[in-house]
Amino acid sequence: MRTPFVAGNWKMFKTVAETVKYVKEFRNLVTNIDDVEIVLAPPFTALHAAAEAARNSNVCIAAQDLHWEREGAFTGEVSAPMIAETGAEYVIIGHSERRTLFGETDASVNRKIAAAFAGGLTPIVCIGETLDQRERNETFAVLDRQIRDGLDRVRSDQLAPLVIAYEPVWAIGTGRNATPAQAAEAHGHIRKRLQQWFGAEPAELCRIVYGGSVKPENIRDLATQPHVDGALVGGASLDVKAFSEIVSRSRNAQV
Ligand code: PGA
Repeated sequence: MRTPFVAGNWKMFKTVAETVKYVKEFRNLVTNIDDVEIVLAPPFTALHAAAEAARNSNVCIAAQDLHWEREGAFTGEVSAPMIAETGAEYVIIGHSERRTLFGETDASVNRKIAAAFAGGLTPIVCIGETLDQRERNETFAVLDRQIRDGLDRVRSDQLAPLVIAYEPVWAIGTGRNATPAQAAEAHGHIRKRLQQWFGAEPAELCRIVYGGSVKPENIRDLATQPHVDGALVGGASLDVKAFSEIVSRSRNAQV
């Protein structure tokens, strides 16, 4: 049985002060939820403050990206050990905004996954097709390539803690979410590939979460689909009440 996983990706929103206010309120709203892994991903500048505000709660903190080297002359970059030192325990890797706006590739995703593990962070790896690719019937081929190249040399025992976020690019920030059937189809495909490439047991343990215009109103229909183990939430996670509602509605969704 996989524990549902729900993460809020704040993107480039919220100052340190706004983060602390949010986390203090949020931890109280979700304090009784012990059957969902709950994660917030603020910007780098607010990671430490978020981790402090979430201390001794069931809320964990994630960074939104990392560099694959531990240190070096890489102006503007942040490494896994630096992120871990803030108290964050997870890191989002390969978000479609990083892929389309900042040149992220499956090869860099792959290096970042290795760096995350080496630095003691759990990767949340984003994959997903564009609208063009879906319309050309390339969805499964794109997902296969992103998994094969992105997760190259990931060991089977590393697959269990790792989280895969299936985020169809056409559904991110557009208000147009995948239908529950579309999500189920893609998640089933991803699980099948993980089984083929990593073995049945690790594939069974890996959480595959859905992302793209998730809201309190649609989470239940998505999270009750087979192989949908939670959500990566952008816009709706900025609102503390909406996000706590999403977390709460993800509980026992597979039962
Ligand atoms: P959205 O973003 O929920 O605003 O569509 C999801 C994401 O980018 O992770």
